[in-house]
Amino acid sequence: MAARTPNTQTRTIESYSLKIAILGTGGVGAALGTRWGAAGHAVTYGSRAPQSEKVQQLVANSGKQAAAKSPREAIAGADAILFAVPWPAARETLEQLGDLSGRTLIDCTNPLLSDMSGIELGHIISAGEQIAAWVPGANVVKAFNTASAKVMLDPKFGEHRATMFYCGDDAAAKLTVRQLIDDVGFEPVDAGSLTSSRYLEPLAMLYIHLAVRQGLGSNCAFKIMRR
Ligand SMILES: NC(=O)c1ccc[n+]([C@@H]2O[C@H](COP(=O)([O-])OP(=O)(O)OC[C@H]3O[C@@H](n4cnc5c(N)ncnc54)[C@H](OP(=O)(O)O)[C@@H]3O)[C@@H](O)[C@H]2O)c1
Repeated sequence: MAARTPNTQTRTIESYSLKIAILGTGGVGAALGTRWGAAGHAVTYGSRAPQSEKVQQLVANSGKQAAAKSPREAIAGADAILFAVPWPAARETLEQLGDLSGRTLIDCTNPLLSDMSGIELGHIISAGEQIAAWVPGANVVKAFNTASAKVMLDPKFGEHRATMFYCGDDAAAKLTVRQLIDDVGFEPVDAGSLTSSRYLEPLAMLYIHLAVRQGLGSNCAFKIMRR
């Protein structure tokens, strides 16, 4: 189903529903899956252990239409695929999925070093672009990588919505992702083409640095101010 024009006004739950596959049932997959389920979308988790107690509990918290399957089964018929696995597992996971031509793939990965002291790609290449190269023809949109899973559960700070940047090369896929960002409760900000992943991934590293090393914690977020 095609996405509608992004709506920043109040939207009724019944107004539209997307089929969303979520690959990875960790912090990000769980946070966004429960938010999208609550917004009326049909969430299917793609997990290595779909019958596990953890995943079944997540399904129970992700709306009436939620389910869990293997990653390959989960993506069948999905309008959008959230790719929320650790960077070291990215390539192997993608290779199991088959042809993703024409599919909308939301990439929230950050190419973190194992001790989280930095990122292993950046400036002239990015995880977003590398992932696009691994799945030729897929419409990769970078998003949900610059805030913590905790903030994804509630992106409102008083009267303000935290900003969520997104970037990609396919206009229709970006429109879908913009709507999904809005549905979670963030303010969507278009950061341009997929090459802007080169900026968004270091921005995520700044976030992690501030949250973990500078003591701000993970309950803070970026906000674009305009006038
Ligand atoms: N945590 C954050 O605050 C945050 C914020 C923004 C972006 N990110 C990025 O988003 C991605 C997911 O982050 P996360 O915090 O949700 O990760 P996580 O809690 O470690 O969970 C990742 C999930 O990926 C699946 N997976 C598939 N292959 C795996 C493998 N070989 N090893 C481990 N897990 C594997 C697992 O689900 P199954 O067992 O069900 O298959 C696992 O629960 C990462 O690339 C991260 O950099 C994280």
